[in-house]
Amino acid sequence: MATSRDSRPFILIIILLLLINSPEPQQQSFATRPRYDHTIAREWDALDVLNRTRYGDFDGEHGHWLNLTGFRENDGLAWQLLAPVQQRAKEQTVGLLGVQAEGALTGSLDESSYSAVYRNVTGFVQGEWARSKIGHDSPAPLLNLSAIAPDSAYPLADYDRNLTGGSGNVRIHFTELGDRTRANVNESISEISARIVIGEDTSMGDWWEFTLHGVHFLKFGGVVLTTTSEKFAGIFALPHFTITDHLYSISQELLNRTVHDTITRQESRSYPTWNPWSSAVDGTSESLFPAPHCEYIIYLQQHPVHINRPSKQYPISNPYFMGLIEDEMRYPTGSPLPNPSQLSMSMVAFSPDCGFVIESKGPPEYSPTEASHLKGLKLEKFMDGARRSTLAFAAVLALQVILVVRQMKEASTPSTRSRISFYSIAVLALGDGFAFLTLIFVHLYLNTSLLALYATAFLALFSVVFELRFLMDIWTVQATERRRQERQEASIHPAATSPGVSLSNVPQGTQPTGPIDSAAGVDTLPLPVTASRRGVDTGVTSIILPPDQDEDATADANTATGTTGSTGPVSTRIELGTLYTRYCLILIVTFFLTLHSTSWPTAARSIYSNLLAFSYLSFWCPQIYRNIMRNCRKALRWDFVIGQSLVRLMPITYFYAVSDNIIFSENDYQALLVLFGWVWIQILALVSQEMVGPRFFIREGWAPPAYDYHPVLREDEEGATMPIGSTQTSEEESGSPSTTMPGESKEKGKKIFDCTICTQDIEVSVIPSGGSAESNSGLGGNILARRAYMVTPCRHIFHTPCLEGWMRYRLQCPNCREILPPL
Ligand SMILES: *[C@@H]1O[C@H](CO)[C@@H](O)[C@H](O)[C@H]1NC(C)=O
Ligand SMILES: *[C@@H]1O[C@H](CO)[C@@H](O)[C@H](O)[C@H]1NC(C)=O
Ligand SMILES: *[C@@H]1O[C@H](CO)[C@@H](O)[C@H](O)[C@H]1NC(C)=O
Ligand SMILES: *[C@@H]1O[C@H](CO)[C@@H](O)[C@H](O)[C@H]1NC(C)=O
Ligand SMILES: *[C@@H]1O[C@H](CO)[C@@H](O)[C@H](O)[C@H]1NC(C)=O
Ligand SMILES: *[C@@H]1O[C@H](CO)[C@@H](O)[C@H](O)[C@H]1NC(C)=O
Ligand SMILES: *[C@@H]1O[C@H](CO)[C@@H](O)[C@H](O)[C@H]1NC(C)=O
Ligand SMILES: [Zn+2]
Ligand SMILES: [Zn+2]
Repeated sequence: MATSRDSRPFILIIILLLLINSPEPQQQSFATRPRYDHTIAREWDALDVLNRTRYGDFDGEHGHWLNLTGFRENDGLAWQLLAPVQQRAKEQTVGLLGVQAEGALTGSLDESSYSAVYRNVTGFVQGEWARSKIGHDSPAPLLNLSAIAPDSAYPLADYDRNLTGGSGNVRIHFTELGDRTRANVNESISEISARIVIGEDTSMGDWWEFTLHGVHFLKFGGVVLTTTSEKFAGIFALPHFTITDHLYSISQELLNRTVHDTITRQESRSYPTWNPWSSAVDGTSESLFPAPHCEYIIYLQQHPVHINRPSKQYPISNPYFMGLIEDEMRYPTGSPLPNPSQLSMSMVAFSPDCGFVIESKGPPEYSPTEASHLKGLKLEKFMDGARRSTLAFAAVLALQVILVVRQMKEASTPSTRSRISFYSIAVLALGDGFAFLTLIFVHLYLNTSLLALYATAFLALFSVVFELRFLMDIWTVQATERRRQERQEASIHPAATSPGVSLSNVPQGTQPTGPIDSAAGVDTLPLPVTASRRGVDTGVTSIILPPDQDEDATADANTATGTTGSTGPVSTRIELGTLYTRYCLILIVTFFLTLHSTSWPTAARSIYSNLLAFSYLSFWCPQIYRNIMRNCRKALRWDFVIGQSLVRLMPITYFYAVSDNIIFSENDYQALLVLFGWVWIQILALVSQEMVGPRFFIREGWAPPAYDYHPVLREDEEGATMPIGSTQTSEEESGSPSTTMPGESKEKGKKIFDCTICTQDIEVSVIPSGGSAESNSGLGGNILARRAYMVTPCRHIFHTPCLEGWMRYRLQCPNCREILPPL
């Protein structure tokens, strides 16, 4: 069976993709046990150093070194920069806290030196960084890695995370765990970890993501973070990075305890954890041969929280007030508390081994309009936003389903379905499938799961199911039509194609069968002419009812179960199977490519996402093309076209224009404008096709010839181009004498015919044979007049509304059952 042959490579590719995207299996053979024991012994030694050292014991400039990896005299790291950086961090804190800074830094906190800061900074901040004045002229240290960390073999490679540009973007996600053994008795300090995404504005826009560990001084909102690796014992020396004696002692006391706990846990694990403070993001992939990377020490100071309208009841200076606000955010009770300002921080970061110092951009060095340090949201606020956006997207999806259902109802007959471009709907369905997968996987970005996301994903799946159903209907109709065309072509050129050759041309399993089954299912048709005639005779004049409604509803079933032999339906089913396989394949390849693209350099990533959005938003192009090729209009409802365009633009607008969006994509207003323009151009093309004609912007001869239902009628001797009804002979041919009446000329150049659908007269202008200048002048004004009547290839003439109404149900002449080209 062709279906099963198709699905095998498909499954293989999925497995391949899963393999490529899955993390490498860890090599945790216990042959490395001695090495592991050695690592743990080194950690105990380092903890001992942490336990024993005092404030000021580490001062590279005055020859005081620590017996820790990276902190020895011979390691050659740029420790001469530490003192200026600490000074800068102190200035930052004093500048932000003002008079309260003194008490905060020395620990002599009382009511007067209280600062209103968030005590739980779980959430994120983002902003721009710039290279600091400090260390601008000092050369990058030359390191001998085999001397610093003799145990680990680093490959000879450039340092990862080495910021070489002058500026860039940075985003920091904080995680503060709730368990209070991570804080000290007085709750003045707690453990914190942060995931940082830092990129630079170079031509390629490289960026890195890594994790840091450190301490958070809860009383005044200071944070000190560091990386820890084989070549840098950052966390064990962290108290030495703090800026005052008091902060040193509380962080030493906390770390002494928490590091002790961590090493104990590490020892008792059944599988080795090489570095519990690893800076690799997933925490595992710091493999046996890690690429060397720059180490970071980061100082952050939270900006004091402002409240727009301070309430008298809870003055901001009240230490309990911030606690109330934070509790309300986390466990909302509906208390009428004022809205505090968002989370905001200043940053100084220092890399001792790569020798650079960076700072967050903002006042006083930069004007507040240019940059204002790092801003962000507490997790609770962010999740509120995410929930709202997800609900909005759910509403968008619901609207989408409604639009599709309305369009499906409209296109319930084969002839209306055959007008719709299969590929336009396929792109829409791909978009929804993509949305479904994105919603399922978005927790990778959020690090938390949100129930609303899964509910919305279900709605997206629902939408996909509807669209696939619609696609199937369209495909069934159009496949039949295609086969008919192929057979017609084969019969037109019988000399060129022998029956054997034509067999290989048509889809597998299809054999040319005798009767031609049209899209409208000609062979199953009862006599429509007499049916409508009967209606006419009993006085129903204008309403066109399909001869058999039930049959229309099951029209595709008719073509599938076929009255013309079993070969057509089988091949249609095979084609449908291939179709679904292709749909899933394209969807999954695109999705995994997109997932992968999140690790590309910024430039490549934005090019990719722009291309993807552009090709997605080209979904009307196939419809425009189909309209041109078939010279037809009226494929889709206008509310479908406008509605889908808006509804599809909405999520893209969200990702391109909202800064705190749930996947933290960069804003790009120019690209968004281009995308809007592109959709607008496509709608304009569709509108003009409707108004002026499907081919007005195409040169003659570019598109295949198509039947013109509104021809200029010329009177010639043989009457070869005139509609039947004006001559006696054709009246006999038609076999229904009462249908047509001899044309009679009321006035010169006018003829009157009879529309068999409504039995009313049609008055048309006719150019008399040997048409003169007078009739040519009439031609220009006739374009609209010509739209009033339609002449079929079998030369029957009808009112345009009558025949259009008829053709929604049957693509055949009501008079002689000749197949009609679609509208
Ligand atoms: C820390 O130092 C004290 C003495 O100052 C000692 O008693 C204690 O065992 C040390 N703790 C660790 C974990 O080394
Ligand atoms: C530094 O610590 C190591 C153990 O980690 C020890 O063997 C060495 O003697 C120490 N060096 C100094 C100068 O104390
Ligand atoms: C790096 O250190 C190793 C071991 O200490 C030494 O053998 C080597 O000569 C050093 N390389 C340089 C370039 O200093
Ligand atoms: C901080 O807030 C987050 C998010 O609400 C929560 O998960 C975490 O437990 C909180 N941490 C503390 C120390 O309260
Ligand atoms: C906790 O605070 C009290 C006074 O507020 C102080 O006496 C005590 O030393 C503090 N304890 C620690 C561990 O900082
Ligand atoms: C570190 O912890 C040990 C107990 O594990 C304790 O004896 C020692 O005094 C602590 N050191 C400091 C500097 O707090
Ligand atoms: C970081 O990049 C700068 C500029 O390219 C280079 O001079 C320096 O050696 C690099 N640092 C390391 C540790 O590779
Ligand atoms: Zn009519
Ligand atoms: Zn006809």
